[in-house]
Amino acid sequence: MRIPLLIGNWKMNKGPSETAELVEGLLAALEGISGVDVGIAPPFVSLHAAKGALVRPPMVLLGAQNCHWAESGAFTGEISPSMLAECGCSFAILGHSERRQFFGENDSGVSKRAHALLKAGMVPVVCVGETLDEREAGAHLEVVEKQLTASLEGIEAGSLGRVVIAYEPVWAIGTGKTASPEQAQQMHEHIRKILIKLGGAAVADGIRILYGGSVTPDNAAILLKQPDIDGALVGGASLDAQKFASIVRFSV
Ligand code: 13P
Repeated sequence: MRIPLLIGNWKMNKGPSETAELVEGLLAALEGISGVDVGIAPPFVSLHAAKGALVRPPMVLLGAQNCHWAESGAFTGEISPSMLAECGCSFAILGHSERRQFFGENDSGVSKRAHALLKAGMVPVVCVGETLDEREAGAHLEVVEKQLTASLEGIEAGSLGRVVIAYEPVWAIGTGKTASPEQAQQMHEHIRKILIKLGGAAVADGIRILYGGSVTPDNAAILLKQPDIDGALVGGASLDAQKFASIVRFSV
């Protein structure tokens, strides 16, 4: 049995003061919900405020939206996994399509970051997903297989079980277009099969595969009902405590 996991990716929204306010609202809205893991990934500069506000139950995990692979050193503008851990983070999102599209990140960088996070005892949330052109060309399954295999390269079965995968079709992010439940389930099943090849059936069966791309309270129920959809990576709707909590509620 996989415990559902819902993560709010705040992207470049909410500075420290707005963060404390949103966290307060979120804790109130999540009260009484159990049987699900919930996480938020605010901007780096707001992690401290988030940690300060996450002082009472329900338990909400804190994570970052990216990280560097080195421990420390001459990498201007970067943040290491151990620094994130010190700020209270237990996970980091890696290889988000916005990082790939606007900041030149690629699968080999994702793999280095994933190794570094695992070494620091943290959870990598590895994002994969095809563009509209790739889907229309019928190449989506192949594209995701390549991204996933390269992003997880060299991770042994023992550690692979700690990774979370997020399938985010690029054409569904921030566009209001969601993958249909059938399209999403087909890809999640495909991802699970790739994970079996990489780590064996027992490991793959325990890995949570999240769906991301215009998830709202209106479409969450049907998406989260699919057998291989184990949660969601929510962008826009996670900036509204009530909306995010309703999505969380649909997962249990
Ligand atoms: P939206 O939910 O705003 O489409 O964003 C999805 C996403 O990119 C989450 O990482």
